[in-house]
Amino acid sequence: MKYLDFYKECIANPLQFWQKQSQELDWFVKPTRVLDKDIHNYDQWFSDGKVNMSYLCIDKHIADGFGDETAVIYDSPVTQTKEFISFHKLHEEVSKLAGGLKELGVGIGDTVIIYMPMIPQAMFAMLACARIGAIHSVVFGGFAPHELAVRIDDCKPKVIITATNGIEIEKIIPYKPFVDKAIEECIHKPEKVILFDRKQNVSFETKERDIDYETLVNNAQSIEPISLSSTHPLYILYTSGTTGKPKGIQRDTGGYATALKFSMKYVYGMNPGEVYWAASDVGWVVGHSYIVYGPLLNRNTTIIFEGKPIRTPDASTFWRVISEHRVSAMFTAPTAIRAIKKEDPNGNFIKKYDLSCLKYQFLAGERCDAATLQWTQEKLGIPVIDHWWQTESGWAMVANMVGVNLLPVKPGSATLPVSGYDIQILNEQGDILEQDSEGYVAVKLPLPPGTLMNLWGNPERFKSAYLDKFPGYYFSGDGGYKDEDGYVFITGRVDDVINVAGHRLSTADMEEIVFSHKSVAECAVFGINCSLKGQKPMALIVLKSDLAKTEKEIQSEIIAEVRTVIGAVASFRDVLVVQRLPKTRSGKILRKLLRNIADEIQYNIPSTIDDVTIIEEIKEIYKFNKVGIH
Ligand code: COA
Ligand code: AMP
Repeated sequence: MKYLDFYKECIANPLQFWQKQSQELDWFVKPTRVLDKDIHNYDQWFSDGKVNMSYLCIDKHIADGFGDETAVIYDSPVTQTKEFISFHKLHEEVSKLAGGLKELGVGIGDTVIIYMPMIPQAMFAMLACARIGAIHSVVFGGFAPHELAVRIDDCKPKVIITATNGIEIEKIIPYKPFVDKAIEECIHKPEKVILFDRKQNVSFETKERDIDYETLVNNAQSIEPISLSSTHPLYILYTSGTTGKPKGIQRDTGGYATALKFSMKYVYGMNPGEVYWAASDVGWVVGHSYIVYGPLLNRNTTIIFEGKPIRTPDASTFWRVISEHRVSAMFTAPTAIRAIKKEDPNGNFIKKYDLSCLKYQFLAGERCDAATLQWTQEKLGIPVIDHWWQTESGWAMVANMVGVNLLPVKPGSATLPVSGYDIQILNEQGDILEQDSEGYVAVKLPLPPGTLMNLWGNPERFKSAYLDKFPGYYFSGDGGYKDEDGYVFITGRVDDVINVAGHRLSTADMEEIVFSHKSVAECAVFGINCSLKGQKPMALIVLKSDLAKTEKEIQSEIIAEVRTVIGAVASFRDVLVVQRLPKTRSGKILRKLLRNIADEIQYNIPSTIDDVTIIEEIKEIYKFNKVGIH
C-alpha cells in the first residue's frame, strides 16, 4: 500500500484505523471503547481494555513458543562483557524482581524511580514495575543529585532502584552516593533503595533503607503479570520545559503498546525475530520506546549497549556491534554520526565490517544537518532515515514510513507525517500557513495512541504548555515549515529548550543557576550551534562592580555549579563576561539576537531594542573568544 493512501485512511477514520491496530495486541480484555475523554476531559484510548505491558513483551512470546530466542543482547565494551538473554531468562529475572518489589509493598499505582546505567537490570526493573502496575520513572544517569531530587519530590517514589556505579568510557560514575545525596535533599523520603552491586570495587555507604538487588531477587517468588486498565500509567518520564521544573510526561499502557507495535512494522520496517538496535540510554524516551518496549513487543532482539560511538575503544564500535549481532535496523542521534565521522572521515572502519544485515539507519533526537545525512548515506549505502518526535509523542510524528513504502529522502526534512499525526504549520494567530512559510509546528487533535496522556500531578500545566496556545491543536514547541510536497522541515525549538548531543535541556534552568552566583548582576543563557553536539549552551554575564574575585574564578565557579546542580550532561563550558546585554525598551533580554549573532545567521535588528550600538560590542566579544568559529 502506498504511503498517501495509508496515511489518508488513518486521518479520515482514526477510530476504525486504531481499533484495527489495537487488535495486533494480546489484550486480557479487548477494548470496545476506542477513544473517549478522561476525568480532565483529555483524550484517552481504549479505556475499557485490560492489558499488561510486561506480559506483551515477555510472556506472550514464551506462550507462542519463542522462549529460547534471544530477547536482549547486553554488549558492553566498557566492561568487555557480552550477554545473551532469552525470553525465558528475561521472564525469570523480571517476574522475580516483580515478586521482590511486591514483598516490599510496591503495588498498583505506586511510583518507583530507576536511576541506573546501561545494564540489563535497568530493563528488568522497568518490566518488573509494569508487571505489577507500579509506575516507573527512569532518571538519566548523567543528571546530578539535585535533578534526581527534583524528580523524587515530584513523583514521590516508594522505592528507588539503582546500581553502585556507571562507567563513562573509563570513568566510574558513583550512582549510589548520588542517590543518597539526592534523598538527603528531598522532602519526600523513599522507603527503600534497591541496590544492584556491579562488584567493580566501588565503595559506598550502606544505609538502613538499602536492600541488595540480588538478595531480593534470589529470595523472591516469581509473579504473574496483572491485568491493568489500558489507561493505567506505565511510566512518568521527565523532560525539560521552559521553566526550571521538569515536566513529568505521563504515558498510558494500551495506547502506547498499540502505537509502538504499529511503529515497529510501519515506521521501522521490522519483522518479528530480527535484531533492532537503538543506541540511546534507557533514561531517554528513545530508550523507553525503542530499547525496551517497542522491540520486545514486536519480538525483536534488542541491544543494551554500554558504550559510546567513539573511544570505546574507537570509531568502529557501532559497525562492530551491527555486524556481530546482525542488526537489521539501527537508530542513533546525528551527534553520534558526527563524532564517528570526525574520527574516521573516510569511513575506513565501515569497510572492515560485513554490514549486509543492515536495512536502514534511523536518525533522530536533534536536527540532522545535510552533511551528516549525506556522509552516512554514502558510507553505508542504505536508506538513512531522519525522523522527528519528542518525549511527549513517545514515537515518530514525522518519518519516512519504510514499512509502508520508502519515499525519496530530502536532506533537512524528516519526510511526511506519520499515520495519526495531522501536522500543521500555524502562525501566531493559529492560522494554517502556506507551503514554505515557517511557523509553529502543531498537531491537530486528537493525537494518536501512545502520546502523552497528561503531566504527572499537573493537568493544568499540561493544558497551558501544550493545548492552550492553539485551541484544537497540540503545540510541539518546535518551529518548521512544509514544502510543495508536504515534506516537513523542523527548524528548531521556539522556546528555551536546547538539544545538546541529542539530550534535551532547559536554558532557563541553567540561567537560574548562573544568576544565583553572587557576583552576577545580569545574565543570559542560550544555545548556539556546535559542529559536534548540534547545540551547546553559552552564558553571557554582566558582573557586579565590587568584586573580590577575578573573572576567571567567577567563570570557573559558575561552570562547576551548573555541573553540580544539573550534571555533566549539560556540557556547560562557555561563560563570557560582557559589559551589558541587549534589551528591549521594556527591559527584556534579546536572547534570540545573541544566539543569531553567535551562529552568524541573518538576523533583523528588533525595532524594540533600546540601544543598537551594543550589537557591535557583542560581535567584538564573540570574535575575541572565537565564538562561531568551531
Ligand atoms: N552517566 C553519567 N555521566 C554521563 C552520562 C551518563 N549516562 N552520559 C554522559 N555523561 C557525562 C559524560 O561523561 C561527560 O562528562 P565530562 O564532562 O566529565 O566529560 C558529559 O556528561 C557530556 O557527555 P556526552 O554528551 O556524552 O559528551 P562527550 O563529549 O563525552 O561525547 C559524543 C560526545 C558525541 C560521543 C556523545 O555525546 C554521544 O555519544 N552522543 C550521542 C548521544 C545520544 O545517543 N543521544 C541520543 C539520545 S536519544
Ligand atoms: P526529546 O523530547 O528529548 O526527544 O527532544 C525532542 C526535541 O528534539 C524536539 O522537540 C525537537 O526540537 C528535537 N528533535 C528530535 N528529533 C528531531 C529531528 N529529527 N529533527 C529536528 N529536531 C528534532
